[in-house]
Amino acid sequence: MSNAAGDNRNLITINKQITLDFRLSEAFKTLRTNIDFCGDDVKAIAFTSCVPGEGKSSVSFNLAISMIEAGKRVLFIDADMRKSVLNGRYQMSKTTGGLAHYLAGRKPLEECIFTTNIPRLFLIPTGAVPPNPAELLGVKRFAHAIDTLKDQFDYIIIDTPPLGSVIDSAIVAKQCDGVVLVMETKTIGRNFAQRVIDQLNKAECNILGVVLNKVEIGGKYYGKYYGKYYGKYYGSYYGK
Ligand SMILES: Nc1ncnc2c1ncn2[C@@H]1O[C@H](COP(=O)(O)OP(=O)(O)OP(=O)(O)O)[C@@H](O)[C@H]1O
Ligand SMILES: [Mg+2]
Repeated sequence: MSNAAGDNRNLITINKQITLDFRLSEAFKTLRTNIDFCGDDVKAIAFTSCVPGEGKSSVSFNLAISMIEAGKRVLFIDADMRKSVLNGRYQMSKTTGGLAHYLAGRKPLEECIFTTNIPRLFLIPTGAVPPNPAELLGVKRFAHAIDTLKDQFDYIIIDTPPLGSVIDSAIVAKQCDGVVLVMETKTIGRNFAQRVIDQLNKAECNILGVVLNKVEIGGKYYGKYYGKYYGKYYGSYYGK
């Protein structure tokens, strides 16, 4: 199947209408702009958190949408092979290939990249759930894919599992240009957050900043981004 733009890649149809309300849309524009300011060489960005449910998948996917709205060509990689939510949440059509297939050497990379019905948005879904995600993500094929794909896309956004639970995200982030930590407000103690940040530093990951998510404003939740450039409050964590 090919899409309207004549791209020969297989197509994933996203059936859910994705609309951000005004304030959320503004928050993502700010996040997008701050990531832009990280420089041209920051193209592959992993998203992680300390514990499950802080909002990595929502923040990373909405950021990808926001980047597309700004005219960027974006590849979203679902590297949360233990608990992918994308298919169900965005009512995506089923695929027969994905990250696990490529990493296990069962399919060439190009066959695991899908176009979507959203212009300029491309996806690598998880594929089959492997028994050993951490080992798979650590293989050279992953780093090779990121390097190759950076030439084809303006940004590569990678959703990963929480680092407080499994090591996968540090393995992924190490092979990316940067990692963003999503933190749900009033959920994580300072010491736990510090341990997760230490872990990322130990793995030599480039921490770009923190998204403070689920901030209650007027009875609704919103996200807020604290990057290196606004690093006063969070800056002492980074040591870079
Ligand atoms: N800013 C927000 N405001 C309101 N709800 C939110 C916000 N961000 C995320 N959520 C909700 O919180 C829940 C968890 O979000 P999400 O799945 O994105 O988290 P996650 O960190 O990817 O979780 P997991 O660790 O299980 O992969 C979802 O129901 C999502 O809709
Ligand atoms: Mg998730």
